[in-house]
Order: sequence, then C-alpha cells, then structure tokens
Amino acid sequence: MKITALPLVLTLGLATAALAHEGVSDPQVKSRMMVMEEIRINMGAIGGMAKGKLPFDAKKAETAKTKLLKASAKVQPAFKPAAQDPASEAAPAIWSDWDGFSAKAVAMDVALEALDTSSLETLKAGLGAIGQSCGGCHKVYRIKK
Ligand code: HEC
Repeated sequence: MKITALPLVLTLGLATAALAHEGVSDPQVKSRMMVMEEIRINMGAIGGMAKGKLPFDAKKAETAKTKLLKASAKVQPAFKPAAQDPASEAAPAIWSDWDGFSAKAVAMDVALEALDTSSLETLKAGLGAIGQSCGGCHKVYRIKK
C-alpha cells in the first residue's frame, strides 16, 4: 500500500511546487491564490472522473461541486483588494474593470450550478462549460508568467 501510493504522492508534490503561490509573501495575494488552488483541486476530482482516470462516484462528485461553489463565491471578496506581489499573475484589468471581472466570476457560478453530478454522462456534459468559464476569465484577467 505504502509503496504503490508513493509515486502519486511524488507527482502531486511536484505539481504543487510548480504553482506560483509557493513564493508569495503578501497574505491577500496568497489567500486569493489558495481560492484558485481549492478550485483546481476539486476540478481535478471531477475532471479525473470525466476522463476515466478516477472511478465515477456521484457522492464524491457532489462534494467536489459543493466545494467548487463555495470557492467560487470567495472569488470576488478575495480579489477585491488590489493587492500586489511579484509572483502574482493577476492582471491590473481586474481592478480597472471590476464589473467585467465580476461577470466572469458569476459565469463560473452559473456553470457550476448547472453541473449535474448524478451520472458520468451528465458530469461529462457539464464539464466543458465550467472549463470555458475558467479560460474565459484567465484569458483576460490572468497574466501567465
Ligand atoms: C473570475 C476570474 C477567474 C475565474 C472564473 C477562474 N480563475 Fe483561476 N485565476 C484567476 C486569476 C486572476 C488568477 C491569478 C491570481 C494571482 O496570481 O494573483 C488565477 C489563478 C489560478 C490558478 C493558479 C493559482 C496559484 O497558486 O498561483 C489556478 C490553478 C486557477 N486559477 C485555476 C482555475 C480553475 C480550474 C478555474 C475554473 C474552474 C478558474 N481558475 C476560474 C481568475 C479566475
């Protein structure tokens, strides 16, 4: 058990270390990155099931959806203060166009609300819209470093 679990632990560790939030000192920037990290983790659970990498489990999918909705609700309060950090990928347009940014956050809420976690088919069907809501915001308001 310990031996088979090890490669997974290593992989997850490496994936986490590559994220920008590792080097961040500003607490506000760190906390908004952690909101995104929470979103990434739970999207991973749902995406893994949809791609067949994880066994489909309606209960786990529903739990992930609930956590995603909670994290999504934190996006606007977490990004509202225009905090800066050299490691941040946040674009200045977030604060010069707060309404536009907020609309992207609402779009993610709507896509998440619409996700039907009751079967693998409905999960797969709802995932595309959620993925688009991530990309729709990142394209405009996140600067890839
Ligand atoms: C309303 C806009 C918006 C939406 C919607 C959004 N993001 Fe983000 N995301 C951002 C911004 C802005 C950053 C950069 C934050 C920073 O570096 O200060 C970011 C950063 C991230 C990061 C990097 C976090 C880190 O540790 O540096 C991940 C991972 C991420 N987003 C995943 C997602 C996923 C997955 C979704 C969709 C389910 C999503 N995001 C939806 C705006 C958004």
